[in-house]
Amino acid sequence: MAKPTHIAIIMDGNGRWAKARGLPRAAGHRAGVEALRETVRAAGDMRIPWLTVYAFSSENWTRPKAEVSDLMGLLKLFIRRDLAELHRNGVRVLVIGDRENLASDIKMLLDEAESLTKTNTNMNLVIAFNYGARDEIARAARKLAQAMAAGNLTAGEITPESFEAFLDTAAMPDPDLVIRTSGEQRLSNFLLWQAAYSELVFMPCYWPDFDRRKLAEAIEIYSSRDRRFGGVAAQDVAL
Ligand code: IPE
Ligand code: IPE
Ligand code: MG
Repeated sequence: MAKPTHIAIIMDGNGRWAKARGLPRAAGHRAGVEALRETVRAAGDMRIPWLTVYAFSSENWTRPKAEVSDLMGLLKLFIRRDLAELHRNGVRVLVIGDRENLASDIKMLLDEAESLTKTNTNMNLVIAFNYGARDEIARAARKLAQAMAAGNLTAGEITPESFEAFLDTAAMPDPDLVIRTSGEQRLSNFLLWQAAYSELVFMPCYWPDFDRRKLAEAIEIYSSRDRRFGGVAAQDVAL
């Protein structure tokens, strides 16, 4: 099967990676950023046009204050340190999730990353930050209700296609492949609408140990899958 157009990754296992080494969880998150860097480069080299990474979920606010603050700090560091290189490499950065309730310095950095890179065409890097699929779908429903109240849409015009236009991922292709590291086998509120027909690949390694080779391995597993989208496999049609 052709290689995936869109890979989405649930970067999980930073805490356990650190624990296994007797390090604080923050060290795991720092190592996780390195793995993210390498993965973005590798996906670019492999000519994967879309990469989405789950960086902070709408439920991650329930973690201890200090850890939340470490994660916010790392996002800022990542953008400050890597934005120039991403831009040089023609990467367009997009952000999904609820940006309204984020601290203003983070909001500004995310806006800056998007606006600086908006005309780049080599690759799309989508950062899911303060993202939760249920929250995204509820916000989409709210926008749709507003469009209806303004008389721009009738109830009869609501279809999967018209609804999708209100999601944060409007105009993005659905992920072909969703990878989750750390051995957990769940979506944890990630892209619930968009992953309806995605191939799921769960890998035992912790996120900081993910690299170019692991990405290639996940793509290899994806290639062996038979995607049917509710239909019948092409080779079986005449049988
Ligand atoms: C993923 O690693 C990073 C985020 C959720 C931000 P975790 O911090 O969830 O690590 P584990 O799952 O506790 O090992
Ligand atoms: C999912 O991981 C969120 C991110 C990777 C950002 P979690 O570690 O938050 O998910 P659960 O709690 O194990 O389901
Ligand atoms: Mg986790």
